[in-house]
Amino acid sequence: MTSDAVERLVSDLTLEEKVQLTHGAADTDGTSTGFVPGVERLGVPGVRFTDGPLGVRTDEPATAFPASMALAASFDPDLAREFGEALGREAKARDQDVLLGPGLNLVRVPHCGRNFEYFSEDPVVTGRFAAGVVEGIESEDVVATPKHFVANNQETARASVSAEVDERVLRELYLPGFRDAVDAGAGAVMSSYNRVNGTYMSEHERLLGAVLKDEWGFDGMVMSDWFGTESVVDAASGGLDLQMPGISAEDLFESMGMPADEFDPGGFDYADGMPDPRTGGLFRERLADAVEAGEVPESRLDDMVARYLTQLERHGLLGERGASGANGEGGGDGREGAIDTPEHRDLAERIAVRGTVLLENDGVLPLADDADVAVIGPNVEEAILGGGGSSETTPFTETSPVEGVEARAGGDVSVARGIPRIEDVSLFDGFGPDDADDEDDSPDVSIDDAVAAAEDVDVAVVFVRDQATEAADRETLALPGEQDELVEAVAAANDRTVVVLNTSGPVEMPWREDLAAVLASWYPGQAHGDAAATVLYGDSDPGGRLPVTFAPEGEYPANTERRFPGVDGEVHYEEGLLVGYRHFDATDADATYPFGHGRSYATFEYSDAEAVDDATVEVTVENTGDRAGREVVQAYVDSPDATDELERPPRELGGFVALSLDPGESRRVAVDLDERAFGRYDESDGWTVDAGEHVVSLGRSARDLRLDVSIDR
Ligand code: GLC
Repeated sequence: MTSDAVERLVSDLTLEEKVQLTHGAADTDGTSTGFVPGVERLGVPGVRFTDGPLGVRTDEPATAFPASMALAASFDPDLAREFGEALGREAKARDQDVLLGPGLNLVRVPHCGRNFEYFSEDPVVTGRFAAGVVEGIESEDVVATPKHFVANNQETARASVSAEVDERVLRELYLPGFRDAVDAGAGAVMSSYNRVNGTYMSEHERLLGAVLKDEWGFDGMVMSDWFGTESVVDAASGGLDLQMPGISAEDLFESMGMPADEFDPGGFDYADGMPDPRTGGLFRERLADAVEAGEVPESRLDDMVARYLTQLERHGLLGERGASGANGEGGGDGREGAIDTPEHRDLAERIAVRGTVLLENDGVLPLADDADVAVIGPNVEEAILGGGGSSETTPFTETSPVEGVEARAGGDVSVARGIPRIEDVSLFDGFGPDDADDEDDSPDVSIDDAVAAAEDVDVAVVFVRDQATEAADRETLALPGEQDELVEAVAAANDRTVVVLNTSGPVEMPWREDLAAVLASWYPGQAHGDAAATVLYGDSDPGGRLPVTFAPEGEYPANTERRFPGVDGEVHYEEGLLVGYRHFDATDADATYPFGHGRSYATFEYSDAEAVDDATVEVTVENTGDRAGREVVQAYVDSPDATDELERPPRELGGFVALSLDPGESRRVAVDLDERAFGRYDESDGWTVDAGEHVVSLGRSARDLRLDVSIDR
């Protein structure tokens, strides 16, 4: 609903001023990812846009929170909201008004270079976390920007590939997370680079207009991804409201301090996953003419501007308060925020702890306080903050695994890298992990030294990592460098060897059965070392569960070139609804570790499951262990299927509840199931619940289901 104040503003703006508010421009202070100048005579301030989903990325430090997948592994949306609030406060502290996150594309293929920035292979987990982060950011009067709308599930050829996907699959898997984010109050949505069924998302009239804006009632603004606009008339008419960064490549280079006359568009190396910056200035250069020529109705231009100004008004950026102090034009009293506070540091550690998944444990964990420990691995003297690309953050402080264990240990701690450092992969330093670890400036290291260290201690803890980045997909799920050899050698030297995975998602673990314990802690952010020590010594239970299936590389469903990364510019989502655990359940294929899996230092019993009504199931959970522990009760729904046009998964996650129980404590847990939990999307009837018995299975993972209850619909 457009307010009278915004309507008046729109009517007072000249055509040129209106167009100015539909695209970005070079940032006068150079501190943000994107900037839209204001209209000073009418009190419209300049507005700043900043990445990213893991922390605020400007030219100054900010809290480096754990990767989104670590947050999702907590299975606690309340934590997501708390994180979103902190992200909003840090954005304001850096004079930023729009936060370009959360990223919430579904994890369709384990190789996707940006999986660490996303939440899950499951749409319910994705939606709960996207909504939580959005609510948190928006509660701080910062605009949240769910991205990348939609079906941007790989980085290979992301700026041109067409995702060929069935409508029902879009509706049941790829769109729901965005629906939840919009319903949670997001003020913006970022369209993705790719095409869907042949049409670029930045000009996809059906998905941007009919679905997002009309059917879902989204009254915010749709912005393009950076240099992700392909036209003027089709984009403006198709539902794009704001072209970002909105400047030409020459202006971009100039704003980066590179003389424009050195810009040679012909020579620009558009690596496979990078957009073509030459389209950057389309709206600035041609939209006014298109409106005057009647190719774009002025009413559509007014709608674009009204959507933008409505978000400024809604977020307190118009009038006396104005946007962030840094923009000058309408800065008002600026907007207080908070950055690098003790609360944010504590939160970064809590998320890393809660997102840690205990995959295996023969009892070696938790470590005894007085245990002598060897900390081994190529990167143990640094925190693994995140992956490469626009989500990169620079923390004020960080703790490495060595620092974390040394601060906590009561026994001796020895350190051995074993192999050359595995480098970070940056978006701009060449592509592919193999570019990155071919030289190393570290001192002479050897696996023999690591073996010697492992032989002399009670427990050897090996930290390993993968390399993931925006704009490129992982070529393999195997660990880079000689990490597998390192783990195998250490495990042979000490049968009490623990491995901690710091990865963007699933990896191959050929040494898995030779180990005493395995933990997945993703990219833990600045609190890496402290969080690792907290879990290793049992100061906190590893509360995480897998938001993605871990399986042998060839077992995943997108296992043909047509399905990934695509052929002739098209990637075919032929697996349909059978993504992740849905595929493993439908084919009864073995997963190494199933979706929802995670051990605890405690043990849990389930009893007395019942359906209290046709949308709620209850179960009693008891901690039968001798330590406090965290449990995630998961409810999977097996529904009757009156259609046969697409193979329906055997069961689908309908809801979950995370809780903490002291030893011996029991609690009655209620899991709410919304209509989508029972339904399927029917192209003519929309969401449809088929009559019959719906069996709800309650358990600890997709493959550890304890009790069933029936709900007749
Ligand atoms: C990038 C990313 C997007 C980011 C934007 C600005 O290419 O796709 O997630 O927010 O550009 O950096």
